[in-house]
Amino acid sequence: MKTAGFDGPDLSVSIAGVRFRNPVIAASGTFGYGSEYEGLLDIAELGGICTKGLTLKPRRGNSGVRIHETPSGLMNSIGLENPGIPAFLERELPRLRSLGPVVIANLSGSDRDEYTGGAALLDTSSVDMIELNISCPNVKAGGMQFGLEPAAAAELTAAVRKAAARKPLIVKLSPNAPDLAGVARACVNAGADALSLVNTFQALAIDIGRRRLVFDNTTAGLSGPAIRPLALRMVWELWEALREPPAHKGTLVPIVGMGGIASPEDALEFLMAGAAAVEVGSATFAHPRLMNEITAGIADYMAGRGIAAVGELSIRKR
Ligand SMILES: Cc1cc2nc3c(=O)[nH]c(=O)nc-3n(C[C@H](O)[C@H](O)[C@H](O)COP(=O)(O)O)c2cc1C
Repeated sequence: MKTAGFDGPDLSVSIAGVRFRNPVIAASGTFGYGSEYEGLLDIAELGGICTKGLTLKPRRGNSGVRIHETPSGLMNSIGLENPGIPAFLERELPRLRSLGPVVIANLSGSDRDEYTGGAALLDTSSVDMIELNISCPNVKAGGMQFGLEPAAAAELTAAVRKAAARKPLIVKLSPNAPDLAGVARACVNAGADALSLVNTFQALAIDIGRRRLVFDNTTAGLSGPAIRPLALRMVWELWEALREPPAHKGTLVPIVGMGGIASPEDALEFLMAGAAAVEVGSATFAHPRLMNEITAGIADYMAGRGIAAVGELSIRKR
């Protein structure tokens, strides 16, 4: 039944001035550079694609076990294996660009200079946005080290903001930060246009047969349904924290929520908690078409209730 004056839901969302056809984005590290999934789902129907973490120099990633399943979750220790930003721009970006969704480059580095060097290259490229990864728990230098303390996060955000002045900047936060709201505020004040969360939770596994640690790097990052209620709580609390002064020029910075989303209902929870869009990661491995189904499920939910715009799903009041 159609509600009077309602022409069906508009799924598009705008984040930092970039328009997404819908709020469902492939999460970094779980969708390669897009083309790996061609034929497995309707890629053009995604809102956006976030690349695997990119560094200025190529990286081989971590040795030993890289993926380990847990009840309702996944532990990974990939260590940011990637071909380096110059090779990404030359070999992967043209194809990724042609797929249709918004292209978000996930940027990482070992130190400030590697981050800013990478940012400068991305700034001159055709990527739509940068997601600054200050939250990777699986590398010895850089990554999460920048995301745990407000001062370090602000310094790096400001430097990357300057190096990539033309690109909208999302900063991806770590759930392992003791003061998540403090880090978030520091990033916003240093120039972040949007925030995304959560990256993986630092976790440990022991192989009792071999009486050894499962991962060469000791800990690994936990993702999947096991973390969803925790991630949802963090999105909820961050939304609240960002309303408090010193908010970003009096406006709410958009939040991209993720962590364990595996159904339309899960995605709706994040949108209701105040997220402007969602990223879907681990669940895609088991169910490549899932993101298309999540988008359809959100559309059905909105159509059934006469909800015209994604922003109206939020149960938070500005
Ligand atoms: C195998 C794997 C690789 C990942 N690589 C990256 C990465 O390179 N950069 C990044 O910011 N996040 C990375 N992540 C984190 C995801 O983007 C996401 O933040 C996290 O997995 C939570 O979402 P999920 O529970 O839907 O997977 C990775 C996750 C997995 C499972």
